[in-house]
Amino acid sequence: MTAKTVSLKDGKKILIRPLTLRDLDKLMEFYRALPSEDRRYLRVDVTNREVVSQRIRLAEKGNVYRLVALDKDKIVADGGLELSGEEWHKHQGELRVIVARPYRRRGLGTVIMRELYFLAAEKNIERLVAMMMRPQKAAQTICRRLGFREEALLPDYVKDLSGKTQDLIIMFCDLKDMWKELDHLYSDSDWQRCR
Ligand SMILES: CC(C)(COP(=O)(O)OP(=O)(O)OC[C@H]1O[C@@H](n2cnc3c(N)ncnc32)[C@H](O)[C@@H]1OP(=O)(O)O)[C@@H](O)C(=O)NCCC(=O)NCCS
Repeated sequence: MTAKTVSLKDGKKILIRPLTLRDLDKLMEFYRALPSEDRRYLRVDVTNREVVSQRIRLAEKGNVYRLVALDKDKIVADGGLELSGEEWHKHQGELRVIVARPYRRRGLGTVIMRELYFLAAEKNIERLVAMMMRPQKAAQTICRRLGFREEALLPDYVKDLSGKTQDLIIMFCDLKDMWKELDHLYSDSDWQRCR
């Protein structure tokens, strides 16, 4: 993907582009500014610089594609498409998105999901997977809205960063179904017309 500027619902312009190792400081600032309630359900401790830089290096090797959204020079959202590389999973990709609080409910999460969708289509992925802990309600709503359905609920399967066990929800969406929802969302909204 090359860099592109998108408009949020309120007309705010945001740059979306692939993440690189040069973004490490900015990314750390973004993660450290997240409220602990948001960090609690992430898979890794994103306040640990070594963990984050290792993640970026992994993304530079392929199989994991990471995008960032910037307001001027500040990272305001981060998204990823992870392909496992294993034969039995190779038609699947896992989506992850996180948006800074002041930028939520402005369409940014959906825009990033759409960009990750395009990336998945380029990589011939047939099915997208999203995993979240039960308290991540906004993630469940946005995924349902984009055509994902809940396929499994694993009780007490994971621990959040505070050490509390949580149910894991696994949602799937076939790529062609997600396109139907995205196409409908964008063609119906004023937001699309003002882009
Ligand atoms: C999930 C998340 C990425 C959504 O980002 P966002 O930029 O607010 O998403 P959008 O503005 O595109 O919202 C799209 C739709 O999702 C639904 N939605 C989003 N946040 C919601 C919330 N808090 N409560 C209910 N519905 C919500 C709404 O239907 C919304 O459309 P609307 O605003 O027109 O009603 C964001 O809340 C987040 O970063 N959460 C924490 C991290 C996380 O859970 N990531 C997902 C892991 S896969």
